Amino acid sequence: MARIPENKIQEVLTKTNIVEEVSKYTNLHKQGRNYVGLCLFHADQTPSMIVSPDKKIFKCFSCGVGGNIIQFVEKINNLVFPLAVIKLAKEYGIDLGNVDDYIPKDPYSSEQKLLFKINEDATNYYQAVLYNKVGIMARNYLDQRQIDRDQVGQWQIGFAYENNLMQHLLGLGYAEGEIVKAGLATTNQASQKTYDYFQNRITFPVKNKDGYVIGFSARVLDQEKPKYLNTRETLIFKKSEVMFNIDYVLKNKERFANIIVLEGFMDVISLTKIGYPNCLALMGTNLSAFQINILKQLKKPIKLFLDGDGPGINAMYKIAKLLINNDLEFSIVDNLTAMDPDELVQTNQVEALKKMVDHSINVYEFFLEKFTLNEVINVDKKTTIIEQIFALLKYEKNLLVVDGVFDQLSNKLNISKEILINSFKQKQSQNLQKKVTNWSSPQILNDNNQFSLKPKTRKEDMKLKVLIALLQSKDYLTEIKDNLVYLAGADQHSYYFQQVCNTLINYYLEDKYQGNDLERFFSLLSAEKSKLLQTSVAQLKMILNQPLAKENFKMHLSSKGLEDIIWQAKFDQLNQEISDGNDELKALELQVDQNNFDPDKVRVLSGEKSKKQKELLILLKQKSELIALKNAKK
Ligand code: CTP
Ligand code: MN
Repeated sequence: MARIPENKIQEVLTKTNIVEEVSKYTNLHKQGRNYVGLCLFHADQTPSMIVSPDKKIFKCFSCGVGGNIIQFVEKINNLVFPLAVIKLAKEYGIDLGNVDDYIPKDPYSSEQKLLFKINEDATNYYQAVLYNKVGIMARNYLDQRQIDRDQVGQWQIGFAYENNLMQHLLGLGYAEGEIVKAGLATTNQASQKTYDYFQNRITFPVKNKDGYVIGFSARVLDQEKPKYLNTRETLIFKKSEVMFNIDYVLKNKERFANIIVLEGFMDVISLTKIGYPNCLALMGTNLSAFQINILKQLKKPIKLFLDGDGPGINAMYKIAKLLINNDLEFSIVDNLTAMDPDELVQTNQVEALKKMVDHSINVYEFFLEKFTLNEVINVDKKTTIIEQIFALLKYEKNLLVVDGVFDQLSNKLNISKEILINSFKQKQSQNLQKKVTNWSSPQILNDNNQFSLKPKTRKEDMKLKVLIALLQSKDYLTEIKDNLVYLAGADQHSYYFQQVCNTLINYYLEDKYQGNDLERFFSLLSAEKSKLLQTSVAQLKMILNQPLAKENFKMHLSSKGLEDIIWQAKFDQLNQEISDGNDELKALELQVDQNNFDPDKVRVLSGEKSKKQKELLILLKQKSELIALKNAKK
């Protein structure tokens, strides 16, 4: 396998956009020069992941994960390095030549393969134990749940008795550390003794998409808590990437008309038994980015089948939004009972269950029905329902579907369709406008019915000048490109400005645009893949049609003029950084005060404080250098 040349890797790093890439998986919000969002690599409650477009990196301040865009793609898609580079190159149209040379024969590292092997040996051992004398209780339990011997074999179900798997695995030649790494044993910190992780539980092996056992979900035999214990996070077991039965479904998908997505693996086992082998379980009610990617790969209509109770409906709503947003075709199995699919099978309701599955319904119909069920529909309630449905519709790309939903909403809530459509449009354009306008101020009609301008900020004015100069010719292409981050600034609209300029710069570089041709520019922009660029053309036209913009088009920005703008932008940014830094320093000092009873914490905080002080000193030095530079030029 050949290595991807270093200059190609550099090209991928420079031509790709980390903010755009991360945004595909989590919502990012502009904060200062950076973007923040919920971390994708741990269960994040408050946004702790930062993406820096300047530094082209992401970093989670809670779990510590971070890196450049290639490392992000490696992690989020679980790809080895060359495959991550290839994926990005494809997305951004970067030519790597013949990529076959770079594709590794074996996607797994030797350490991962070792952990697969240990888990496989554990699977065999647990299976043997189930049919030992000590397995009698477990066999009884499985009997009682109507899981027969064939199914035990099919799913490789086993029994973790007491503390004896470790001994067995040591006997096979594995080191204690390796067994711990596989998640099968755990070391007690106090006694420094190592024990089996699973004890007195029925074991269900969990496999990855290639059929390797990556870990287990293990159930107690009684009502003890926790009911299920899953393998903790290891090199090969990532809870957010688990999909029970994925290996089987991937291998057999061609003969399936659709894929049923369930909550628990017990549901998969039961549905398979009654003739639905086309099932996957999420092992909970969260749908991760990894799982969405797998569903995309399957290219089959999905049937979402969760519990029919309140939490089940909430979970379906959350998942439905993600599925619509990702353009996945799906319907919902309207579970009219309070039971999960497995319980329906257990209680001999197979016929009713089959009917529900075979007659799964449209997502909007489903939620309209659920939201209006047993409810007094007053005005407030109507507003809530409309908002909830709009939140789903927001992502819908099929206009016929949108139209149909308006009809239904109109009927159900007794509101005219026109009003619904207008209020939806209003919401949509508000969302888009927030992203686009303002960096060059919006137009207002004055008394003479002419467009007049609101007073602009200096920053907006500078951005407008720069964009116009760039539209006129490629004279300043390099200077603008090199300083785009400063020129865009840190306000919430800078991302859009950067996107437009970058796209324009690329048109020049690819010889698609030669300058002074707004019509050509707009037509190129309308054909862009990025939704933001595509749909914002009208607004951009408006901005560039303002009298002030027209004035600028008549002139040619001098190189001194551009130099001043860049200087000012750098100066503004430095000042902003200094002011942010001072705020952070103050916050740290406050924390030191509040934690003075905890010496460990104070030590850590003091470390951070002196780091921040050093950063500030550097910034102040840069600022004085910048001022000196200006004075020298005068
Ligand atoms: N789950 C888990 N940890 C728990 C509870 C549940 O990981 N403490 C996951 C399991 O993968 C389970 C799924 O969430 O398959 C659904 O949970 P639940 O509905 O509680 O389990 P059931 O499948 O109904 O389990 P059982 O019928 O054995 O009670
Ligand atoms: Mn159950």
